[in-house]
Amino acid sequence: MTDRITIRRPDDWHVHFRDGAMMAACAPHTARVFARAIAMPNLVPPVLTARDAAAYRDRLRAAAPGLEPLMTCYLTDETDPDDVEAGFRDGIFAALKLYPAHATTNAAAGVTDLRRIGRVLERAERIGLPLSMHGEEVDPDIDIFDREAVFVDRRLGPLTRSFPGLKMILEHLTTVVAVEFVRATFPQVAGTITAHHLEVTRTDMLGHGMRPDLYCMPVAKTERDRRAVRAAAVSGEPCYFLGSDSAPHPLAKKRAVPAAAGIFTAPNALEIYATVFDEEGALDRLEAFASLNGARHYGREPNEGTVTLERQPWTVPPETPVAGPEERIPNYRGGETLPWRVVG
Ligand code: NCD
Ligand code: ZN
Repeated sequence: MTDRITIRRPDDWHVHFRDGAMMAACAPHTARVFARAIAMPNLVPPVLTARDAAAYRDRLRAAAPGLEPLMTCYLTDETDPDDVEAGFRDGIFAALKLYPAHATTNAAAGVTDLRRIGRVLERAERIGLPLSMHGEEVDPDIDIFDREAVFVDRRLGPLTRSFPGLKMILEHLTTVVAVEFVRATFPQVAGTITAHHLEVTRTDMLGHGMRPDLYCMPVAKTERDRRAVRAAAVSGEPCYFLGSDSAPHPLAKKRAVPAAAGIFTAPNALEIYATVFDEEGALDRLEAFASLNGARHYGREPNEGTVTLERQPWTVPPETPVAGPEERIPNYRGGETLPWRVVG
C-alpha cells in the first residue's frame, strides 16, 4: 500500500477567491498547495476589463504571497475585443470566462446571447486566448438536471464548429454527456473536474434531508454520472484536469432561503482528490490530473516544485473564520476525518 506520494506542484484551474476580507481568508488556503490558480471574475461588480483584472491580480498577490493568480475576463454582451487583446498581450488575461446570464452566483451580467460575443471569440481564436465556460443552458424550460447536457448539445457543439481554432475549457463536468463530449472533442475542448463532484450525488444533497452545504452549480447529478466523472478524472487522460470551483459563501448565506450556490473546498481540495484517486487505485495518475494536463491545455509549463501527501488522518476544521461582518465560511466536509494529508 502506498502511504506517501510526491507530485509536481499542482495548479487549480478554477477558484473563486472573492475580494476584501473573504479573499484574505480564502486565498492562503489555495496558496498552501497550488502554485497557480485561475481566479474567477464573478466579483460584485465583476472583473470586466484588463484594468479591473490587473487591479484584482495585485490584491490577490498581496493576499496570498507565493500564489500566481491567473486572471479571467468576465464576458458580457459589451466586452470589447480590443481590451481583451490588449489584456492578453500585456500578460494579464489567461482566459475568457463565459457565464450564460443568470446561470449561477453573480452571473446576472453574463452573456444573454452567444451571437453578441462573436467578435470577441473571433479575436480570442486569432490571438490564442482560451475560452473557459460555465456550461449550463439557462432556457427556463430546461430542467436543472439537464442544463449541462443541453448546453453541450445546443451551445457548445455549434461553438466548436464556428470557432475551430478556439481552445475551450468546459468547467466542472458533472454528467456522462459532458465527460464524453470532452473526450471526443479534445484537444479543442478540455474539462475541469471538482473535488466535490467526485463524491456527491443529488441523492446526497436531497435524499436524506436537504443539504445546502452540498448545493452548488452545476448541481450534483446521479450516481451513474458521478461514476463517469470519477472514471474520467482518475484516467489521467490529458483532456481532464483539476479545477476545484472552490466557492466560499458565509454560513448565513448558505443557510438562507434561497441558499447560495457554491462549496468551499480550498482547505482540503487536494486531499480529497488524493483520497478519490487512492480509492480508485490510481494514485500514480494524480500528478497528470493535478499538475500536468491543465498546464498543457493552457499552454504553460508545469511547475518546478513538488507537494507531498501522506496517509495520515486529520480532521477538517468545520469553518474558516473571516474578519469582519462575514464571520465564517463552512468548509466542505468540515468536522470529518480525511485519510490523506499534505505534509510538504
Ligand atoms: C460559484 C460561486 O459561488 O461563485 N458557485 C457555484 O455554485 N459553483 C459560481 C460558479 O462557478 O458556478
Ligand atoms: Zn465556479
